[in-house]
Amino acid sequence: MKPRQILVTSALPYANGAIHLGHLVEYIQTDIWVRFQKLSRHECYYVCADDTHGTPIMLRAEKEGITPEALIARVHAEHSRDFAGFHVAFDNYHSTHTPETRHYAEDIYARLKAAGLIEVRTIEQYYDPVKEMFLPDRFIKGECPKCAARDQYGDACEACGAAYAPTELINPYSAVSGATPVLRESEHYFFRLSDPRCQDFLRDYTQRVGPRGAVLQAEAANKMQEWLGAPGENKLTDWDISRDAPYFGFEIPGEDGKGSGKFFYVWLDAPIGYMGSFKNLCDQRGLDFDAYWGKDSAAELYHFIGKDILYFHALFWPAELAHAGYRTPTKIFAHGFLTVDGQKMSKSRGTFITAESYLTQGLNPEWLRYYYAAKLNGSIEDIDLNLDDFVARVNSDLIGKYINIASRCAGFITKRFDGVLAGSDASAALMLSEPEQDRIAGAYEDRDFSRALREIMAYADRGNKYVNDQKPWELAKIPEREAELQIACSVAISLFKSLTALLAPVLPKLAEQVEGFLGIGKLTWADTRSPLPAGHRIKEYKHLMARVETKQIEALVEANRESLEPTAADHPAQSPQRHAQHQQATEDRAQHPPAESFISIDDFSKVDLRIARIVAAAQVDGADKLLTLTLALGTGPDPETRTVFAGIKSSYDPAGLVGRLTVMVANLAPRKMKFGLSEGMVLAASDPEGAGIFLLAPDGGATPGMKVK
Ligand code: MSP
Ligand code: ZN
Repeated sequence: MKPRQILVTSALPYANGAIHLGHLVEYIQTDIWVRFQKLSRHECYYVCADDTHGTPIMLRAEKEGITPEALIARVHAEHSRDFAGFHVAFDNYHSTHTPETRHYAEDIYARLKAAGLIEVRTIEQYYDPVKEMFLPDRFIKGECPKCAARDQYGDACEACGAAYAPTELINPYSAVSGATPVLRESEHYFFRLSDPRCQDFLRDYTQRVGPRGAVLQAEAANKMQEWLGAPGENKLTDWDISRDAPYFGFEIPGEDGKGSGKFFYVWLDAPIGYMGSFKNLCDQRGLDFDAYWGKDSAAELYHFIGKDILYFHALFWPAELAHAGYRTPTKIFAHGFLTVDGQKMSKSRGTFITAESYLTQGLNPEWLRYYYAAKLNGSIEDIDLNLDDFVARVNSDLIGKYINIASRCAGFITKRFDGVLAGSDASAALMLSEPEQDRIAGAYEDRDFSRALREIMAYADRGNKYVNDQKPWELAKIPEREAELQIACSVAISLFKSLTALLAPVLPKLAEQVEGFLGIGKLTWADTRSPLPAGHRIKEYKHLMARVETKQIEALVEANRESLEPTAADHPAQSPQRHAQHQQATEDRAQHPPAESFISIDDFSKVDLRIARIVAAAQVDGADKLLTLTLALGTGPDPETRTVFAGIKSSYDPAGLVGRLTVMVANLAPRKMKFGLSEGMVLAASDPEGAGIFLLAPDGGATPGMKVK
């Protein structure tokens, strides 16, 4: 059989958040599939990268007081560490913020432009006059136009589920600065997805059945029909691929070799990061890039993705590739979302579990690889990590069925026979049959890992039955049955070798340990059906894998339990599809009010306290407790200012306040009051007995805008 040439990708994780068990559904799944292809001796490459561009990453870096480059470098190291910890073996883990990705982004853009598929249009969009930037929908908040729920995002309401444009929000405010956004015009670049060429291409592509089967899973193909509409209906609208400065990304080339002042939207260059990462690998290993990405490439290209990003991968991406003269994906494999104990992952329940915490708590990554594999069946359904079932499943299958075979037999071989195996006909009789081997290979190929593991565990059952029937522990007591003892244990060890080869895509680290213990070279798929020869010598058996203890799971959940609000990283602005998850997190907080007595340092640092100068103070008509203060948050001729209504009228004369320094909460959500919008809060001491109100003031030397921590 001629080796296939296969290029595989997983979605590029955003460079502003930690890898969690949800992500790992994808990376473990892909890694198992890739390892299976490699064990089958195909030429297979697995590339990925961090997705580094966009507004959330820019703002996150700013918040941390570092450059975006420093942030993405740190996260790249964290992600690489986490993936390695779960034995996810990329051939290359790159970044989108690289010359390779820039090159292909510019190249694809230029080719689409030459094909007449880029159009420049002026649009009107919300702009934050304080932060001086256009606001992505997720950074605009306000009251829902349908149900009036407060603090809803600019694209959809989490209280009533309504979808709307940010301009429909009531009392909108910028989630970045709190300022009231204003509408501004700006030129944007659009990829003309509505062009008949794109529509026709996608109608064909999304229903295509190639030599390796359908490009899309049935559920995904149906979804596409829905999005595309009936023939002639042309439901696709043009896709806005540009963003205005300030933006962390690649500047779009302008006309005369200069920049255009616009940036590629993160989702334009993100999938191009697949090409960038592979190009980087080609340069390292001397591979032929065009053999994989050229229009007439005979290689196979597979993208593993979550169902939430199907739109980008099954519509935008193939349309871009096809019209820029590149090959299109052979198949797109979408998977569902992870639930834990039947519910969305939740920080308050402690089920939003990071990869890092799983490893630092000392849990074995191969337990999770096995459990996920046992649950994955190649469909788009969500998969559930049931924590009790996890313990039961790992212990009964991995330890009880698989490891057990070696642990019951290896000791006799090393102690009684100097590690030497005997030959026997029973070995052949107990070999995996060819149809079984084919079925298991087919299940791996179809990503129906649960079916593969069912077959493999049925084979392990046969091995255990053999050991139970032979009873080596009893044979060992009868000196004249030595030879039988050696045969029984040798047969079992051979079968254990085959099982290990069958499980190697799922349990790569364990397979390595077994290779050491058996004194054999790298296992391949051929080892799934070949006994160890008579006379082969094995090494001393050391325990291969421990059982999972329920208390380890309890400790893991405890370590991940938080009473914090979810951070922006939990629902990145680029993915409105993740609303449901956020909604769940919101419900969680309602159901389980956080323990009140202590807050963490993280809780405290959420409050942005600043030194402010009172530049104006006045009475408020009709208010008996309030003064209106204008606070400057910086020095210089034109500092940022905020208007705050403060209940300090009983203790202060406005005139005496002007020029004073005080402390304000600068990131309090703006509040619409009867007298106007209050954009923060000043800090003052008071006592319930009415002894007065005492405005806080910093020591000499503090200047407006300084952070208080
Ligand atoms: N950066 C984009 C992908 C760009 S690909 C050109 C992105 N990043 S992500 O970090 O949010 O998600 C990375 C992958 O992990 C996605 O395929 C996503 O569907 C998957 N998952 C993230 N959370 C998940 C679960 N809770 N469960 C299963 N998969 C999850 O999207
Ligand atoms: Zn609503």
